[in-house]
Amino acid sequence: MTVTPVISSADEAAAILRSGGIVGLPTETVYGLAAVATDHEAVSRVFAAKGRPHDHPLIVHVSSLEMASRFGLLNDAARLLAAAFWPGPLTLLLERTPLAGDDITGGRDTVAVRMPRHPAALRVIELCGEGVVAPSANRFGHVSPTTAAHVTDDLDGLIDAVLDGGKCDVGVESTIVDCTGALQVLRPGAITVADIESCAGRPVAVTSGPSRAPGMLASHYAPAAKVHLVSSEGDAARLAADLSRAGRENVVIGVGLGITEYAATLYEMMRGADASGVSDIIAVDPSGPGLEAAVSDRLRKAAADTAR
Ligand code: TXA
Ligand code: MG
Repeated sequence: MTVTPVISSADEAAAILRSGGIVGLPTETVYGLAAVATDHEAVSRVFAAKGRPHDHPLIVHVSSLEMASRFGLLNDAARLLAAAFWPGPLTLLLERTPLAGDDITGGRDTVAVRMPRHPAALRVIELCGEGVVAPSANRFGHVSPTTAAHVTDDLDGLIDAVLDGGKCDVGVESTIVDCTGALQVLRPGAITVADIESCAGRPVAVTSGPSRAPGMLASHYAPAAKVHLVSSEGDAARLAADLSRAGRENVVIGVGLGITEYAATLYEMMRGADASGVSDIIAVDPSGPGLEAAVSDRLRKAAADTAR
């Protein structure tokens, strides 16, 4: 039995947030751990519940452009991208306003803002009347949650409620685009580089590194099992046989799945593997410039962190 209540009413979730609580919130990408962005005490509880270092900045989730503009300066490029992809799995890095506190931004001069498209998330934010921070609702360094049960698996007893909005349909975190200078993708996601280039009408750089986005460390998205990346189904079968001969129970993921389904079930498969107690996960690395890049990025991080 869980201590943290799993609730189904967006109104109830918003009421808890408005009174200073922290709540697991469904979005179309992964579940977030929400707090009202201007409530410093609640924001500090989010860091504590996740075990997240305070210099890792958070994403402010909004339900309107006007709300976004309270936290960040929407320049022309940002407005163009917002018009094309919001609500949706795209986070814009903007110059911050004074309302975006050091606790949200990690003391940087930028703030990350996104308008999610999950109807329950939008409703909760609207009812709060203010931006809502929502880092992924997992313990720091662990695999992101894509169901309400995943949230309680990690954070039961540490948060005030989880709003159950079903399974997340995208399954990997939002694309992050730095709009403060030449456009740069800092984290690949379901909005692809090609999507952004065709909207902006110019080339977009891809730079994922800890210097720009501190949460982009290799120590992210990691299950307990060791993750092996292979490039084909045949290689997966051979490695599975080798590991089994060595007495290591293993599971193969990513075979026979389209990329949309691979992304949507990736974290569920990793969590399922840990729950079943296998020592090794063999993952077929999808290659391609679209959503494949996001799945590959998360797999590489999981493999790097479990390389032991
Ligand atoms: O899809 C998503 O974006 C999910 C859902 C819940 O919306 N949220 C999410 O949040 O993935 P989180 O905190 O797990 O990841 C946010 C990433 C971190 O890597 C952080 O470093 C980066 O965004 N970030 C946030 N603000 C930033 C800033 N001012 N400068 C650079 N990177 C920033
Ligand atoms: Mg995260």
